[in-house]
This record gives sequence, C-alpha cells and structure tokens, in this order.
Amino acid sequence: MKCKLISVPVEQGQPVPGCALGPEVLKDAGLVAALRDLGHEVVDLGAVPTPQPRAVPAHANRLKFLPEVSAWVEATAGMAYEASADGFPIFLGGDHSISAGSVSGLARRAAEEGRPLFVLWMDAHSDFHTLDSTTSGNLHGVPLAYLCGLPGFEGYFPPLAAPLSPQHVCILGLRSVDAAEREALAETAMRVHDMSAIDRKGIAALLDSFLNEVRAANGLLHVSFDVDFLDPPLAPGVGTPVQGGATFREAHLAMELLYESRLVTSLDVVELNPVLDERGRTAGLAVELVGSLLGKTITGKRRAA
Ligand code: ARG
Ligand code: MN
Ligand code: MN
Ligand code: MN
Repeated sequence: MKCKLISVPVEQGQPVPGCALGPEVLKDAGLVAALRDLGHEVVDLGAVPTPQPRAVPAHANRLKFLPEVSAWVEATAGMAYEASADGFPIFLGGDHSISAGSVSGLARRAAEEGRPLFVLWMDAHSDFHTLDSTTSGNLHGVPLAYLCGLPGFEGYFPPLAAPLSPQHVCILGLRSVDAAEREALAETAMRVHDMSAIDRKGIAALLDSFLNEVRAANGLLHVSFDVDFLDPPLAPGVGTPVQGGATFREAHLAMELLYESRLVTSLDVVELNPVLDERGRTAGLAVELVGSLLGKTITGKRRAA
C-alpha cells in the first residue's frame, strides 16, 4: 500500500498547548519505519501550509479561533481531496477539528467515485456540537456535526461538497457527551457505541456488524482515531482525557479487525499532545496501533494480504 502522510499541526481547536507537535512526534516515534517494515511504501507529503484566517461573520456564540480553524478545515479538505486520488492517506493531527477537513475532502472524492463513505469515529467524545450548541467554544468538539450536515455552519465553515449519511457513521468508545450533543445524537441514525456497549457486547461484535454494512454497500471506510479513545493511564498524552477508555487489548483487536477487513481506505490520528505525554508512551502506542491497522500482528508475522 502507498501510505501518504499529511501533517496538520493545528491546536487552536482545543485548549491545551502542544497538540500541534503531534505530527513531528509521531514521526519521531517511528511511524515511517513501522509502515515500511510492513512492506508499505511511505510518501511524506509534509504539512498543510498554514492558511490565512478565513473571513467569517461575527458569531453570537463565543467560539475560539473560528477564522483560523475554519481556514485549516478548508486547506485540509483541499489536501485530502487531492491526496485521495490514489494511495492511503494518513492525516496526522493536530486536534480533532482537522477531521472536519480531512473527511470533507474524502467525502467529495467518494461522491465523485459514486461510492458511499463510511466513517468510524474512535473517540471518548462524540464531537457532535454545532457552532450554536458548544458551551466550551472549542472547535474540536464540532467536526462530526459539521460533516453530517447539521445546520448553523453555513458561512462559518467551508461549504460541504458531500455531507455524510448518519447511517454510515459509527462512534466507538464514547463516554463523554454534553447535554446538547445527547439530544442531537438521539435524533440521528448514527451507530453510537459507548464504553458500556463495548463492555457488554465486546468490541469485535460491534465492529464486525459495522464492517459488514460497509462491505455490503461497497463503501470506502475512513477511520478517525482520536487518541483519547484509549484509557488515560495507557495514553496520558491527550488534552481532554476521560476515564474508563479502551484497553490496549481492545484497541489492538479493533485495529487488527480493521486490517483484516481490508475495507479501510484512509485514517486520521488526532489529539496526541506530546507535552502532556509521559516519556513518549502515548506516541509510541499510537504508532503501534497504526501499525496494527496496517497489517502488523502480535507475533510479527503477517497474515496474507
Ligand atoms: N464535548 C467537549 C467540548 O465540546 C469536549 C470535546 C472533546 N473533543 C475532542 N476531540 N477531544 O468541549
Ligand atoms: Mn474527538
Ligand atoms: Mn476525544
Ligand atoms: Mn500490533
């Protein structure tokens, strides 16, 4: 596989400095070598150039860095669209606001190819606020609502070429939902699997049922991996940790199932904050999990591709 690395060093969508160092630290932690060891070609496309803030009208809500984040979304979407012409794009964040860009560019490409884009959102949070409903004003809390075409983004975020169908979205690992998000989630057809569902049913069963849908629809599958999906003692290097997250075994199994499905066509790795990390553990774990998603197995032997 031709892996295309795209760095998106944005941290203005969240409150804790350091997140913008994510792409460099993931590479320092051995991401390129890990992918090459698996037999993949790796092309480093570098960073999305820092855009000029977008001119947007004043908003009634107190939104942090809206012109800057909106510009990053637009620039990242353009890069995602271009990069997805071939190969397997991997977006290195940066905070989760970058996925408003990566996924919208991929959705535009998928629509042109006439294939449905499915999204697996691995996250402690649903990131399902609108610009009107967010109470923190942190724009890493809005990408999924934007991508699904919820109202209120017009004029503030770039227009969407192709909104996601909520039936094609699966949130996995959820354990922190704000009141307004809860109401909005109750009204969508998204699959929402919280940690309780993982405990009761097992991550494999939940994932298999979604992967079967993707396969049946001949869909493309984007994985948006927010590192705070993982349990904080395991992955402390994130700005918005929530206790009770996925274990190493669950995360690892999820990645292996995704690899074995052969359905995944692109990936985000977001919310790593190296400043909050403990001796690079979170970065190292993220690299290992990306390796598993792209074919590494525990024994080091590869299953037939
Ligand atoms: N729901 C909270 C907020 O909107 C937290 C969002 C955290 N998002 C994330 N991508 N880590 O502020
Ligand atoms: Mn997130
Ligand atoms: Mn999160
Ligand atoms: Mn592994």
